[in-house]
Amino acid sequence: MKKIIISNWKLNGNINFINKYIKKIKIYLKNSNYKISIAPPIIYLYYMSKLLKKNKYISLTSQNTDIHINGAYTGETSINMIKDINVKYVIIGHSERKKYHYENNKNILKKIILTKKKNIIPILCIGENIKEYKKNKSIEICKKQINYIIKKKNIKILENIIIAYEPIWSIGTGKNANIDHINKIHNSIKKYIYSLNKKIYNKFKIIYGGSVNYKNFKDIISQKNVDGLLIGNSSLNIKEFINIINN
Ligand code: PGA
Repeated sequence: MKKIIISNWKLNGNINFINKYIKKIKIYLKNSNYKISIAPPIIYLYYMSKLLKKNKYISLTSQNTDIHINGAYTGETSINMIKDINVKYVIIGHSERKKYHYENNKNILKKIILTKKKNIIPILCIGENIKEYKKNKSIEICKKQINYIIKKKNIKILENIIIAYEPIWSIGTGKNANIDHINKIHNSIKKYIYSLNKKIYNKFKIIYGGSVNYKNFKDIISQKNVDGLLIGNSSLNIKEFINIINN
């Protein structure tokens, strides 16, 4: 089974960039060892879906969804709208949304439920901050974030979802977590979910994100317990991203 690489553009890109990006990476998609998905700013999802014309070697990811389906919520995008344009994944609870948009556990849970209802795969972001990391609390914090979701619903909520382990201190800092640390966290989460429910264990994935680049990606993605990568900065550099997907 191919591992997945998600390119998270955050608040970057424009039509020109999209045309160039897709034209250049298209050549490498078919023979890539990875499943590739792109998360442009939501406003460009429709344009990209037209451009890709259901190209089976690449999919689209939304960077967010709202907790409402429709109504007087100026500036939001609902999961029904996202479903309309063939999006495969939705990133939920990214640390930048927690920091700048006051995303909280309650909203994160709502978004996961709505996304799953539409048969779109949620990518639930979890991870500790630098203080917690230094105090050796990474595992505890990650479990706490997962437990909130499970306790409010039940373990079945994790079925077919992707968990993205993204230590906050490594996002956009150029400091990726080292392999031992990534393995330790991914192993503990997998073991924890196995201990709760063996069926669900077989039906969820865990990917890593945080300062992944063309130099370190191979080491990280080749770990048995790493099912893929969520890449920000380095995925915006077309040459670098091609280096990654073409490896
Ligand atoms: P980064 O971002 O690769 O720039 O660290 C990762 C992410 O936020 O998903």
